Amino acid sequence: MNKPFALLIVTAFLALSVPAFAAGGKTLYKSCSACHGKDGRKKALRVSPPLKGQKADELFKKMKGYQDGTYGGKKKVIMKRNVAKLSDEELQALAEYISTL
Ligand code: HEC
Repeated sequence: MNKPFALLIVTAFLALSVPAFAAGGKTLYKSCSACHGKDGRKKALRVSPPLKGQKADELFKKMKGYQDGTYGGKKKVIMKRNVAKLSDEELQALAEYISTL
């Protein structure tokens, strides 16, 4: 394979993967919006602080905390279940998406 051709493939791959990443967070968030609200303003089950306005890295850390049991309030068991099966990549995509709400 010559060099320009290889470069073309890498560029095409990057161009395709960026929107796919953004869509991932949006799609994943569909399962969260019932409790947190489509726009992230809702206090989930009346206890969660609204997600809207929080930064991606804060959200990511909180979700990781629910996974490993180091973060959460009275209803953390509910959130632990919601994030238990998500990979770091999925949590990151969610955090990025929520921070744009
Ligand atoms: C069944 C309702 C429900 C669903 C569905 C749900 N959550 Fe939650 N979420 C909660 C509750 C309740 C809390 C507060 C839990 C506690 O006591 O710590 C919370 C807290 C959070 C927090 C921490 C907020 C903060 O600032 O402390 C984040 C981040 C979060 N949820 C993200 C998500 C994401 C992402 C999803 C989808 C994958 C999701 N939630 C789905 C109910 C829900």
